[in-house]
Amino acid sequence: MANSAELTVDGKTYSFPTLEGTEHEKAFDISNLRDQTGYVTLDRGYKNTGATKSAITFLDGEQGILQYRGYSIEDLAAKASFLEVAYLLIYGELPTQEQYHTFENAIRRHTLVNEGMRTIFNGFPVNAHPMGVLASMVSAMSAFYPELENGKEEDKTDLHIIRLLAKLPTIATWSYKRSMGHPTNYPKNNLDYIPNFLNMMFALPVEEYKVDPVVAEALNVLLILHADHEQNCSTSTVRLVGSSQANLYSSISAGISALWGPLHGGANQEVIEMLENIKADGGDVSKYVEMAKNAKTTGFRLFGFGHRVYKNFDPRAKIIKKAADDVLAKLGVNDPVLEIAKGLEEAALNDEYFVSRKLYPNVDFYSGIIYRALGIPTNMFTVLFAIGRLPGWIAQWKEMRETKEPIGRPRQIYTGATLREFVPIENR
Ligand code: ACO
Repeated sequence: MANSAELTVDGKTYSFPTLEGTEHEKAFDISNLRDQTGYVTLDRGYKNTGATKSAITFLDGEQGILQYRGYSIEDLAAKASFLEVAYLLIYGELPTQEQYHTFENAIRRHTLVNEGMRTIFNGFPVNAHPMGVLASMVSAMSAFYPELENGKEEDKTDLHIIRLLAKLPTIATWSYKRSMGHPTNYPKNNLDYIPNFLNMMFALPVEEYKVDPVVAEALNVLLILHADHEQNCSTSTVRLVGSSQANLYSSISAGISALWGPLHGGANQEVIEMLENIKADGGDVSKYVEMAKNAKTTGFRLFGFGHRVYKNFDPRAKIIKKAADDVLAKLGVNDPVLEIAKGLEEAALNDEYFVSRKLYPNVDFYSGIIYRALGIPTNMFTVLFAIGRLPGWIAQWKEMRETKEPIGRPRQIYTGATLREFVPIENR
């Protein structure tokens, strides 16, 4: 017999079914809770709330497991290309050679951005943060495809997916080039996805730019590690916005905005800025550990530490820490902040405050050090995260549509004034 959970309230007992996922995580199904009992649940920050059923990504925070469609992150990071992983996330299976060729070729042929977008782009101030530009430009993309009106995009979803995957790197590099005062580069369709991005980022009309395979491979791994992470803040945002049947571009633009926050993807920029501050302050990591322990009074947190779900280690951080060592050695880069990061990690991991709260380095802790070694400027770190996360957002949006999820609309516990009489302004 299936399990059920009993709840006794106001002298009455109600029964709710339980359910179990394929990796054995358990849930109470309270879909009928309010109808039956008149009560809602209160779960600020959704710490205990499963918002959906999903077959895309599995993670186990206690054991440090992360899998996309059943494949381990360690396996994918070591063996796959980013576009293979994108296909896997979006369509559910690894592509055959033919499927991969078609997918990759379609992306290659859609990298150009409508020239009309350049007019919008040129209106941004040169010192605009690239994440603000990216979110705005992706939102603007929806205006360039009139078939999106009235939900008519459904039959063209695959094309919109290709467009987004193809054009996001182009838009991202434009915002960087503009901030540098450099001419923007057009995509080169003879280049693969990652070399094309690197070429648009770094090529200048005045000299030859050759993509370093070490850089391209490091970026491939980083993008794969960021490609999906089940119902995190930005992904939940994409699903929530999409649940109103908003189009794919608008939903992804909302996800980019959510990612920008320093408690989410914006942490990778904050980490490097924090490490630089520690270096400029003499390199004493213990001082910063002490400040973080008094977060309530100092307001300072160790960026890149702690995670809502991972409570033993973040498997992505483990891969990234090793990659940071490898990439810096291969490129012959000696970055003093890497030593500061390692010192900070060691000091924190041996401190009771961090141990008891299960605070470990997360994906953002070492990623910035690699981005820096690859020549990517600090304010582009979160943009790189967005390029990596795009397939995950798309996959989640698509799943939400295909499973016909109802519009997302949480309840609340109202704590404001009760009914009172309106007082005309002359009497106030
Ligand atoms: N430094 C110091 N103390 C911390 C940190 C930190 N980085 N993170 C959590 N804590 C403390 C909190 O003060 C709290 O202590 P208390 O129990 O004494 O009140 C306890 O640990 C639990 O923290 P919460 O904020 O309740 O945990 P939550 O799950 O809500 O937050 C989060 C997770 C947002 C990631 C948090 O750890 C944090 O702010 N980290 C720094 C920002 C960061 O690196 N974000 C990137 C996350 S990964 C990603 O989005 C890709």
